[in-house]
Amino acid sequence: MDMSLTQLSLTRLMDLTGKRALVTGGGKGIGAAITTRLIEAGASVTIADLDPSGADFAKQVGATFAQCDVADSAQLEAAVDMAAGNAGLDILVNNAGIFPTTGPVGKVSDDFVHRMLDVNVRAQFSATREAVARMPNGGAIVNMASIAALAGGANISAYSASKGAVVSLTQAHAHELGPKGIRVNAIAPGIIDTPGVKEQLEPLRAGGLDIDARIAANPVGIAGQPDHIARGTLFLVSELAEFITGQVLVIDGGATA
Ligand SMILES: NC(=O)c1ccc[n+]([C@@H]2O[C@H](COP(=O)([O-])OP(=O)(O)OC[C@H]3O[C@@H](n4cnc5c(N)ncnc54)[C@H](O)[C@@H]3O)[C@@H](O)[C@H]2O)c1
Repeated sequence: MDMSLTQLSLTRLMDLTGKRALVTGGGKGIGAAITTRLIEAGASVTIADLDPSGADFAKQVGATFAQCDVADSAQLEAAVDMAAGNAGLDILVNNAGIFPTTGPVGKVSDDFVHRMLDVNVRAQFSATREAVARMPNGGAIVNMASIAALAGGANISAYSASKGAVVSLTQAHAHELGPKGIRVNAIAPGIIDTPGVKEQLEPLRAGGLDIDARIAANPVGIAGQPDHIARGTLFLVSELAEFITGQVLVIDGGATA
């Protein structure tokens, strides 16, 4: 047994001092919590977000902000470049995603499916391509999937398909990039209390849905919070997870157990 590993302190294993990170969709919700934790661990973080209000959040926590639609290749490349600077990038969190309710299959247009796949999958592919070109010292990538990738549900087919593809992408990239010292993992969050989720569930409140009860519907019985996902992300990008790649970490309070 290599005893030198056990002598590394936990503080040192979680320390991201000197690391440069890009968090897509980091202006609010899960991405904002991830940004906060990465900065706390010592990383320099750039947020790439479509919504310009993310600039205020970035300023508040000491991140750099790039207004960017991740589905726009030129904007995405500029954001990756900004995050990498001259030293190169160490961490990419492909978090930006959209989840408008798909609706019944008969009502789903090609344009709807195209945008869903473009933002939720193709942009992760492109961000990884640009990031890897700027990771001279290896690195860690976390792709945001969803429990919708693992189990079906009515009226969310386009979203489920996009997140299923994120899982496959993660596994393939883990194999391809492992030899370059780059680990690639995915997180599959359960329902998490974010502005995006509230927006989606709000119209259902009129029909009697108790949104808070829905968010807390899991064996642990607590509402999933963005920080629960941020803690998992910190684990996966840190040295604590140096032997973990190509995996999907389900963080859902046991909802899918
Ligand atoms: N909240 C949940 O219950 C839940 C569950 C499973 C998976 N997820 C995934 O987690 C990720 C974050 O979700 P959230 O709930 O925090 O969402 P959110 O809507 O609250 O926040 C998403 C952020 O991403 C940004 N964004 C959206 N489209 C973008 C684009 N094209 N380019 C750049 N930025 C863009 C938004 O401006 C926003 O700041 C998504 O990939 C989502 O699919 C969320």
